[in-house]
Amino acid sequence: MLMTPGPVDLHPRVRKAMSRQVVSHRSSEFHSLVKSITENTRKIFQTEGDVFMLTSSGTLAVECALANIIEPGDKVLIPVYGVFGKRMSESAEQYGGRVVEINLEWNRGLTPEVLEEYLTENNDVKIVSLVHNETSTGTMVKEFWKISEIVKDHGKLFIVDAVSSLGGVPIQVDKLGIDICVTAAQKCLAGPPGISLVSVSGDAWKKISSKSSKTPSYIDLKKHRQFMEKLETPFTPAVNLMYGLDEALKIIVDKGIENWWRKHYECSRLLYNSLESLGLTIYPLEECRSITVASALPPNNIKPKDIVEGMEKNGITIAEGMDKLKDKIIRVACMGNVNRRKIEYFRDTLKKVMENIERHKDSTRKEQKL
Ligand SMILES: Cc1ncc(COP(=O)(O)O)c(C=O)c1O
Repeated sequence: MLMTPGPVDLHPRVRKAMSRQVVSHRSSEFHSLVKSITENTRKIFQTEGDVFMLTSSGTLAVECALANIIEPGDKVLIPVYGVFGKRMSESAEQYGGRVVEINLEWNRGLTPEVLEEYLTENNDVKIVSLVHNETSTGTMVKEFWKISEIVKDHGKLFIVDAVSSLGGVPIQVDKLGIDICVTAAQKCLAGPPGISLVSVSGDAWKKISSKSSKTPSYIDLKKHRQFMEKLETPFTPAVNLMYGLDEALKIIVDKGIENWWRKHYECSRLLYNSLESLGLTIYPLEECRSITVASALPPNNIKPKDIVEGMEKNGITIAEGMDKLKDKIIRVACMGNVNRRKIEYFRDTLKKVMENIERHKDSTRKEQKL
């Protein structure tokens, strides 16, 4: 069972869809596939605007957003509270942005007050770009509607990396005024890794059209828009992965997006309760806990690595921390095809694994005494 914060286990319908014969990406079958993916993506992103798909993982989708919007010299405000925010900041710089980082505690996401303060002090910021859910820390930006209101009140363009949260929690792209929102198939949408999705607002198009610097061709949204008029992609896409994503999106839309969000929320409550009942300490502050990835510190000097290895031996893959949290936390996904039964099975397995580790420590201590 895959409980890493992406990729996640695939539904049998998704696996079956991917085993179909490939079709030409200039054929009418392909046009129907793109139409279906686009329509359902709009429902999940809650947008009437344009959406595009890239044959790529989430990283390129984030770069796509930045590369299309940033004109060299543009001031870009980026909150950093984990690995993915830092990566976004480095990318923005590579595309010529003058980045102002808001360096936050990793266990505390961005608050409206901090954003307001930075935007008031940095009047010349053109773009606010942020990670909605920091997968490396299990910290999520809460009061997100307030955050977007502040960005819009200050008249800034708004880029959101929702790679590990879109589909798992409500992110109403149009209502929130998000100019470019990106996600990847392999997390809360429960699709295969290898496809990412990008939404683009009218204001984003104005900036993209007036930009004089060139955008790398593979991620040039103007090119994607030209081809999307024919329900095509500019380059050869991963057609079979698209079949898989199409099926995954249909599953969500058939169940109802509100039900999909509710399931993530309820499973996350159960997951946090389970971790705490076994003595682990949740890493982020309570008000910043992610709904789609839980991160926690093990008790009694148990090493995260030992838990991850023990779980793996019992058939459940989870993740260790990243960067400065490498030897401190475990990370467990609450994404996609997650359900109560899986979380309960995870809890029972974790209990067994931790008891085994404790027993092993006891016997080593006894041997050392002899
Ligand atoms: C918030 C966030 N942004 C970006 C990425 C990069 O996505 P990928 O690994 O699909 O390239 C990830 C991956 O976990 C992520 O969680």
